[in-house]
Amino acid sequence: MCPPELPLPPGQKQRLEAHSAPGPLAGQCPQLCGGQQSCAFKGTSVTPMSSEDPEVQRGYIRLPGFWKMLTVAVCMAFLGCLQAQELQGHVSIILLGATGDLAKKYLWQGLFQLYLDEAAKGPSFSFHGAALTPTEQGQEVMAKVLESLSCPKDVAPGHCANLKDQFQRLSQYRQLNTTEDYETLSKDIEARVQREGLQEAGRIFYFSVPPFAYADIARSINSSCRPGPGAWLRVVLEKPFGHDLPSAQQLAAELGSVFQEEEMYRVDHYLGKQALAQILPFRDQNRKALEGLWNRHHVERVEIIVKETVDAKGRTSFYEEYGVIRDILQNHLTEILTLVAMELPHNVSSSQAVLQHKLQAFQALRGLRRSSAVVGQYQAYSQQVRSELHKPSSFHSRTPTFAGVLIHMDNLRWEGVPFLLMSGKALDERVGYVRVLFKNRAYCAQSEERWAGAQSRCLPQQIVFHIGHGALGSPAVLVSRNLFRPTLPSSSWKEVEGRPELRLFGLPLSDYYAYSPVREQDAYSTLISHIFHGRKDSFITTENLLASWLFWTPLLDSLAHETPRLYPGGSENGHLLDFEFSGSQLAFSLQQAEQLVPGPGAAPMPSDFQVLTATYRDSPLVAAWPEELIVKLADDIEATAANAVRRFGQFHLALSGGSSPVALFQQLATGHYSFPWAHTHLWLVDERCVPLWDPESNFQGLQTHLLQHVRVPYYNVHPMPVHLHQRLCAEEDQGAQVYAEEISALVTNGSFDLVLLGMGTDGHTASLFPQSPTGLDGEPLVVLTESPIGPHHRMSLSLPLINRARKVVVLVMGRLKREITMLVSRVGHEPKKWPISGVLPDSGQLVWYMDYEAFLG
Ligand code: BG6
Repeated sequence: MCPPELPLPPGQKQRLEAHSAPGPLAGQCPQLCGGQQSCAFKGTSVTPMSSEDPEVQRGYIRLPGFWKMLTVAVCMAFLGCLQAQELQGHVSIILLGATGDLAKKYLWQGLFQLYLDEAAKGPSFSFHGAALTPTEQGQEVMAKVLESLSCPKDVAPGHCANLKDQFQRLSQYRQLNTTEDYETLSKDIEARVQREGLQEAGRIFYFSVPPFAYADIARSINSSCRPGPGAWLRVVLEKPFGHDLPSAQQLAAELGSVFQEEEMYRVDHYLGKQALAQILPFRDQNRKALEGLWNRHHVERVEIIVKETVDAKGRTSFYEEYGVIRDILQNHLTEILTLVAMELPHNVSSSQAVLQHKLQAFQALRGLRRSSAVVGQYQAYSQQVRSELHKPSSFHSRTPTFAGVLIHMDNLRWEGVPFLLMSGKALDERVGYVRVLFKNRAYCAQSEERWAGAQSRCLPQQIVFHIGHGALGSPAVLVSRNLFRPTLPSSSWKEVEGRPELRLFGLPLSDYYAYSPVREQDAYSTLISHIFHGRKDSFITTENLLASWLFWTPLLDSLAHETPRLYPGGSENGHLLDFEFSGSQLAFSLQQAEQLVPGPGAAPMPSDFQVLTATYRDSPLVAAWPEELIVKLADDIEATAANAVRRFGQFHLALSGGSSPVALFQQLATGHYSFPWAHTHLWLVDERCVPLWDPESNFQGLQTHLLQHVRVPYYNVHPMPVHLHQRLCAEEDQGAQVYAEEISALVTNGSFDLVLLGMGTDGHTASLFPQSPTGLDGEPLVVLTESPIGPHHRMSLSLPLINRARKVVVLVMGRLKREITMLVSRVGHEPKKWPISGVLPDSGQLVWYMDYEAFLG
């Protein structure tokens, strides 16, 4: 039975009549659901709703037939309540930064939408706008924002006005600054919940504040504003989530020390965009058609693009620190990439499975190199920075405002498929899309007019998730008619009508099955709803975040000192920013354009130098910028290989491990199609005493960066036997002798055609360290040694064996090598002190390859 007193705000009658979903008056939920005695309407538990409020009382008294209608309503609502148990209780939403731009532009509207969608289903709400702004001023700003909220097209205007009025009354501003303020907020929420006889379901704190404020706020919430037992806490965080891997780790650790992982919702608003939120459901609902298509055998390439016409004016203090890669690629475009590339979970509605599969996709990303990216900067940018950040007129920024990046994945599904990510400011159009272009294997023998229209196998075949804007102007999913007719949920997607002639991605719209949302919804509204419903798969977990930074940080580091190509902006960019890829390298299609303004500082440009040849320790020296150096070395190795194969029928190449040769391996793997791999034997110069599959193993590096990409016969690959009888480098297993015998058996006179060495900062080479008791002289060809840094146990070719080679090349790269390079240039033959100084082939040739950082510092 209903209690006799039931306060109702004005307009309640209309509300009761108008809200019918999901059942008749379902969710107009009196407190009966919670088994409480008082009967405040949960969907309308505004503060002014208390019976002391004269406004409310007036509204209540004036409604004719009120009690009769109410009795019916309450009883029917009770049924609805039973259907919506999980949505019961009071939810407090605290918007931190309530008067800021994001809040004004999207968040309040998103919260209003949440209220429109959910209030009728059962829960009661209170919205707390919070900021540092003093109360009166904050109230004023907030009132204006709330007044400007718009009503969705599908809600009747009168009805919406009513709901807006309720929403405004449920929303209050408060200044939140000190821990005491948070305590007071918590007490107020508790008091209200108690006063209105509700149960607290949970609290959402939306951090729309700069990240430097996160830690303090997080601590205050944790210490003073957590809800009581049985109620949940959700904190919503906005990017940037760090600047690189170390800063992201630090921020994650700070937040992780106060919040549980399940309490954190890191927003990437692109995950709320309708076309992108549709990628997984689309893949799921069209599993059958896509099963055989969504892989490297059929996909030609994937393009993930966000083009903007706006520039960074007014935001340069943020932008100057982040740039386009951190602002868009590291987060939005990478998230999209994982949605396209991840293995589809059996159950796409399981957040846990989706997040897990996403993480696996990150793990398959092949590391980026400097040559994987092109960067640009619109011409007016530096001037904007100078004026906004008060920099001197000599200041020129290196922050990229445009980037194109080529990504590959090392897994069976996607190996060899280029994923192109591109974004930029001040471009010629605003548009975003994901385009999956399929390989076209068909040849149509008849002339074009006899092709079977849109169904022709000869037309391009593609699937496009159109994020928005562009010529189409709305989100859409497009599937070429010559692929298959897709299934999309008809309740939320409808076929696009009209404009059949509009050309998109080389085809008229009529050649696609094209769908657009029945109701366009802003990304923030979608995400706020997902937060409310605890749908974690639309948010970034700590693991995924760190995986993304781990992937992007090396590229960001390698670009830190690059000068981006300048572009004029808008349509004047012409073809200046067009780029093309070859193997794993990406380059602008047009050769280096004239710089429109001088590059920053006095740093020399790569083009200022040619490959320099000189001598070092009386042997030839090749010095160049890193990329040129690697290209030159790879060319020289190929020439040596071709020569050896021509003369002896085979090529014996001994390779070192470590980081310097990685770029060389990649260069050999991707840019050398005529390399005589079938006649090449690969040997290891040294090895760490770890299993061959261990990431620390030199063989593992060789496998990852070279072997898996080239066709060296299995029996020509000679890893060092460091793991015999399930032991690592045990003396009694005689692994070193085994390797020496293998070399003697296969390599004429133990004389390798080419040995690739490096030089450590202590002057070590191979795994021959200063003062090593073995390997620097004497008989043994292969020795066990000790390294001062872990893994300590090593196996190495000896200096005498190295010096038997026909050719030895020493690759030295990076600034850290500068000091040892200087030192070794002066010392004589002192292998005990500097093993590298003992490298002097008996009758072969020694060539040094150094980059300018190592050579010139
Ligand atoms: C934001 C970036 O994340 O995304 C902005 O910080 C960018 O620089 C914006 O303009 C683009 O988002 P949307 O929704 O306008 O495509």
